Parts: sequence; C-alpha cells; structure tokens
Amino acid sequence: MTAPLTVEFIAGGQGVWAIDRVVPVLGETLPPAASLSIVPAGQTASEAVAWRLKGTVSNARYSHRSELAELAIRQEGLGRSASRQAVLIPIRKSAAWWALAQDERRAIFEEQSRHIRIGMDYLPGIARRLHHSRDLGEPFDFLTWFEFAPEEEEAFDTMLSRLRETAEWGFVEREVEIRVSRVQ
Ligand code: HEM
Repeated sequence: MTAPLTVEFIAGGQGVWAIDRVVPVLGETLPPAASLSIVPAGQTASEAVAWRLKGTVSNARYSHRSELAELAIRQEGLGRSASRQAVLIPIRKSAAWWALAQDERRAIFEEQSRHIRIGMDYLPGIARRLHHSRDLGEPFDFLTWFEFAPEEEEAFDTMLSRLRETAEWGFVEREVEIRVSRVQ
C-alpha cells in the first residue's frame, strides 16, 4: 500500500511559482513572499521561509459514486504545459461545521450549495487538488490548489464568486488567496 501524499507549500525566496499577490479574503491573512514551491513534506528548506503549510491528498469524503465517475471523465491533471497560472486557497471552517454529522455536512455541501455541480462547469479548464490539513494540527483545514491557462482566469474568478455565495461558505472563517504564475 502506498502512503497518502503529504506536501508542503513553502513561501520564500525561491520556487517555480512567482507569487503575484496575496489576497486576504476572510480572517487573518498570510505574509507576503516572492515565490512558492510545493515539496514532499519533511524536506528542510535551504533558505529563509516566510510561511509553510502542510496538507495530505486524502480520500474523498462527500462525493457520490456518480459524481466521482463524472469528475474522472471531465477533469485533467496538474502540470499541464498550458497551466501558467495557479491559485492556492487555504481555508478553515468553523467549529459549527465540524460539530455537524457527516450527512448534514454533505447536505450543505452539495444538495444545498451545489459545490460539485458548480465546480464541474469549469472542467477541464481548471485542474485541482484538495489537501486535508485539519488532522495535521495546521492553521487551515484545507489547502486547495488550482492550475489553469491565463485565459481561464476570468472563469476561475466567476466560479469563486459563485462558491462564496453558497451556504457552505457561511461556515468558512479563514480564507486567503495566493495567486501565482509559473517562472520557468
Ligand atoms: C474546479 C472546480 C471544482 C471542483 C470540480 C470541485 C470539486 C470538489 C469535490 C468533488 C469535493 C469533495 C471531495 C470529497 O468528496 O471529500 C470538493 C471539496 C472541497 N472543495 Fe472543491 N471543487 C472545485 C472548486 C473549488 C474552489 C474554487 C474552492 C475554494 C475556493 C474549493 C474548495 C473546496 C474545499 C475547501 C473542499 C473540502 C470541503 C470539506 O471537506 O468540507 N473547491 N471540491
């Protein structure tokens, strides 16, 4: 059995992604830095680090079989050559969210908020990877990562507005947007 992948997003002076801007969305923001790199967790950084965030690529919690099947057909992977832009969005949800039962969270996430349905409209243009951080004792519960070609940025912003209007986002208490572009 292969262990789940745990990675660190490290902001500092070097990295394949240049940080264009750090946008505070909700709650405490993150300090500015020049570059962002994504490395397997546990690697020591060789130079000054502004901040580092850890997350694990885990199993799906809420998606139904039919949704996973549709996602598998529609989505494309990270690392496409056209994906010159990316966004890291760390998110923390409230104690009220975590006090809910799994079926109550699913109902808010999809039946009420249509998270997967909304997201599906932007595939395959946007490639994504979700990392879970809550059980690692991190400051955020999730690190969400998106890659796309520059011409998809407007669509990405529309998707963000749609998601942020949902009932699910009523449970978000900290959110930061880190907009990056590829250096090489
Ligand atoms: C590209 C379009 C998107 C698609 C197709 C998509 C799809 C999904 C799916 C299928 C899940 C559930 C995984 C599971 O079953 O556990 C999920 C979870 C999540 N997504 Fe998205 N998503 C998209 C965009 C976004 C965006 C733009 C954000 C952030 C601004 C976001 C934040 C999250 C978070 C935080 C979770 C975890 C929710 C939780 O477990 O409470 N997603 N997404």
